[in-house]
Amino acid sequence: MKVVSLVGARPQIIKEAVVQEQLQKNGIQEVLVHSGQHYDYDMSDVFFKVLKIREPDYSLGVGSGTHGEITGRTMIAFEQVAMKEKPDVILVYGDTDTTVAGALVGAKLKIPVAHVEAGIRQEPHNMPEEINRKVTDHVSDLLFAPSRLAVENLAREGITEGVYFVGDVMYDLFLKMKPHFDYSAIDELSLQEGNYVVVTIHRDFNTDDPVRLKWILDGLRELSKQLRVVFPMHPRTKKRVQQFGFEDALEGVDVIQPLDYLKLMGLVMQSAFVITDSGGLQKETYFCGKRALVVMPDTGWRELVDIGWNVLVYPVNDTFNVLWESVDAKVIENALCYVYGAGNASALIADLLSNKSAHVKRRN
Ligand code: UD1
Repeated sequence: MKVVSLVGARPQIIKEAVVQEQLQKNGIQEVLVHSGQHYDYDMSDVFFKVLKIREPDYSLGVGSGTHGEITGRTMIAFEQVAMKEKPDVILVYGDTDTTVAGALVGAKLKIPVAHVEAGIRQEPHNMPEEINRKVTDHVSDLLFAPSRLAVENLAREGITEGVYFVGDVMYDLFLKMKPHFDYSAIDELSLQEGNYVVVTIHRDFNTDDPVRLKWILDGLRELSKQLRVVFPMHPRTKKRVQQFGFEDALEGVDVIQPLDYLKLMGLVMQSAFVITDSGGLQKETYFCGKRALVVMPDTGWRELVDIGWNVLVYPVNDTFNVLWESVDAKVIENALCYVYGAGNASALIADLLSNKSAHVKRRN
């Protein structure tokens, strides 16, 4: 059994960390390909280092660009790898331009495609990640769903064959890495447990509209009068802040470089709460037992909003202070993470790939 895994952006690299280990345990040969969609040390290399992921066998070096450029360049380069390696399965993760490129290459070469994190859906329907998710799911043969809702979403679109609820590999990673979380940023920034908020904002609908970005930054500055605000800033957001001349709006906010997984988790574990538009972080915040204001009109992780744990704040006129104060403190705490499986998603994926290879055939 030979799998070619394609990663390229930060959230995929961290998922690969746990899947890689399980593929090895199951004796599955894995060829690892990095598209190069993320290339800064803080966005890519550092995750390989702290999560001890082996070096990619192929680095495609596609870099940044328009969605068409990233997708197109990845397809052209990845097709060569797929034709040379002739894998039994192509494994893609999540919802990035790298994901959809890998899935399309597999589909066109008639190589079975397995999608980790299949079935997630969210508005707006025209956001790049949503387009990537839908296209990827519709050309995939094995669909590894992280939640029950994801299975339902797929069924609603007529996809029932090859669908497996395995749980969320991010939860596996969280459990595995918890003993190694790095709390050093707390001392480095002279923070104290509970006196700070962690913020990540990088979605195009938040960063590319100056009015919206200004509202977010003004809200953070206001919040920083009550609590420390720590903002590990994504390069896209940094560029937009400079382009729109919004540097002053960040006065009082601790803007730092993007953090590696272990440092970010250490920071969240002792935070008051989190403000984010990251799909991964809104769930990880829950794993950490903390709450998140999710700066999105909708979320693929709706379960957490339905139980009142996370709160969507989009569009809003209130400040983050008011929004946080209005969050109901007495939410019903679900049995932690049951919706995201039992922390063995990556083991189930490897098991399905190795033992049930009969299932790994292209859908009609
Ligand atoms: C991508 C994914 C998104 C994921 C996010 C995690 C798509 C459509 N979206 O969004 O699902 O949540 O990764 O970060 O694929 N840049 C750098 N250095 C880097 C990488 C990016 O400077 O190493 C800058 C470039 O200006 C680039 C911009 O960030 O144009 C956006 O990067 P891109 O990979 O296109 O999308 P993300 O916003 O990172």
